[in-house]
Amino acid sequence: MRTLAVLSRKGGTGKTTIGLHLAVSAFHAGHRTLVCDLDPQRSALDWRRERQIAGPDVIEAKGGALFPLRQNAERSSVDLMVLDTRPASDADTSEAVRWADLCLIVVRPCFFDLKAIVRTVEQVTNMNQRGLFVLNQAPARRNGEEPRQIRDTVMALEELGLPIASTGLRYRAAYQTAVRQGLAAQEADPDSLAAFEMNTLWRQVSRELWPPVQKGRPTEAAKAAVRELTAA
Ligand SMILES: Nc1ncnc2c1ncn2[C@@H]1O[C@H](COP(=O)(O)OP(=O)(O)OP(=O)(O)O)[C@@H](O)[C@H]1O
Ligand SMILES: [Mg+2]
Repeated sequence: MRTLAVLSRKGGTGKTTIGLHLAVSAFHAGHRTLVCDLDPQRSALDWRRERQIAGPDVIEAKGGALFPLRQNAERSSVDLMVLDTRPASDADTSEAVRWADLCLIVVRPCFFDLKAIVRTVEQVTNMNQRGLFVLNQAPARRNGEEPRQIRDTVMALEELGLPIASTGLRYRAAYQTAVRQGLAAQEADPDSLAAFEMNTLWRQVSRELWPPVQKGRPTEAAKAAVRELTAA
């Protein structure tokens, strides 16, 4: 089982939107997927109540209960747990970071988000966890060029030392419309630009969570096993 935590100390960056969209992608990829709503606002649960079709399960959870929850999930053959966190760097969020295989740090291209993200990065790196920035609600290109605020944000994120997802998400009404209906944008309109960028983000995230096995190159463990066998 893999665990994906979606984080940012700032409110409204898009944690729940991204967590749910990736959970839907995982579900359609055939993974048994469970979203744990760690935010007392319970937005993920609200989304699940609106949803009329099959999809990832959503449960409410507390940071302190994550350990037994993970054990139960593993026993129930859950493949992916998505932890939707509250906008804070509190004990609950620390627990989410602790149990995550990958922490998505959601950031909008603006000064206040960048200021707030520093503490989240510290939380992730101090616990030796893997982090990936996702740029969300990015304004559209102007005259074929990325707006200055995006270029500045990317430069600022690079300084923080964690990788940046190769696909950022633009500000698109399609995300809001889909979520209101308990759907993900890739379900509401599979040919939309929102669907395209979300599918691309999911491919990167799933590669990070389940790295492809390198064929033809023996791993260190395999080399050690061969050494042991030949020594015997
Ligand atoms: N890429 C996007 N384009 C347009 N709207 C977006 C996008 N991402 C999120 N939103 C909208 O921004 C608002 C906040 O999103 P969301 O609730 O996912 O953020 P959040 O980080 O989970 O917020 P909170 O910190 O309150 O939990 C919602 O109205 C959502 O529909
Ligand atoms: Mg939220």
